[in-house]
Amino acid sequence: MTENGDAIDGGPGGSPDDSEPDESALDEDLRVPSCERCPALVESRSRIVNGVGPADADLLFVGEGPGAKEDERGEPFVGRSGDVLDDALRDAGLARADVRITNCVRCRPPENRDPTAEELANCRGHLDAEIDRLDPELIVTLGKVPSEHLLDRSVAITAESGEIVDARIAGASRRVLLSVHPAATLYDRSQRDGFFETIARAGELSGTGGGESGGQSRLGEF
Ligand code: URA
Repeated sequence: MTENGDAIDGGPGGSPDDSEPDESALDEDLRVPSCERCPALVESRSRIVNGVGPADADLLFVGEGPGAKEDERGEPFVGRSGDVLDDALRDAGLARADVRITNCVRCRPPENRDPTAEELANCRGHLDAEIDRLDPELIVTLGKVPSEHLLDRSVAITAESGEIVDARIAGASRRVLLSVHPAATLYDRSQRDGFFETIARAGELSGTGGGESGGQSRLGEF
């Protein structure tokens, strides 16, 4: 742990005897219990919103940062965007409990503004440590901010959504599937089918899900 109290920033952590990995300890390791690096976010947040989901998930979703509901409840994607994501996961035969969901920054920016470059950089160690520990089969970037942050280039997200790229992230080459943010489907309903298809693709590519909830068959209902 650093003097800022940052638990997962770069350090290996883990139990002294890691021959038998303990999942709950691993999950606990992925939490950032305290951090004071971004003055504006420390001011605007109620709490740090850590990633949720299994510490060995094959599929990792990365959003931008917590909104009001997430800040209130301490969990990523539990507001209206989260409802859309949950619907798409269910439609793809994926359970929210089987995937990991996190954000580029863990504290709510004031007035839901985008995180600044400095805030993204300040939080990057936490995200990289989570990715390194998880080592997922596939990372899905939800929106322009996480796509640009992880690929380190500008991204035309509407045009590039659904594309799969390899990128060097947290010390290794990782498979990344770009997606529009679920909120985009609320502003522009024509993006909904594409978003649902991208999430279904994520399930197929990562080997996660394929459960009984009906896959593409419900797309026509929306
Ligand atoms: N939008 C995000 O990018 N992340 C959340 O956790 C919620 C909404």
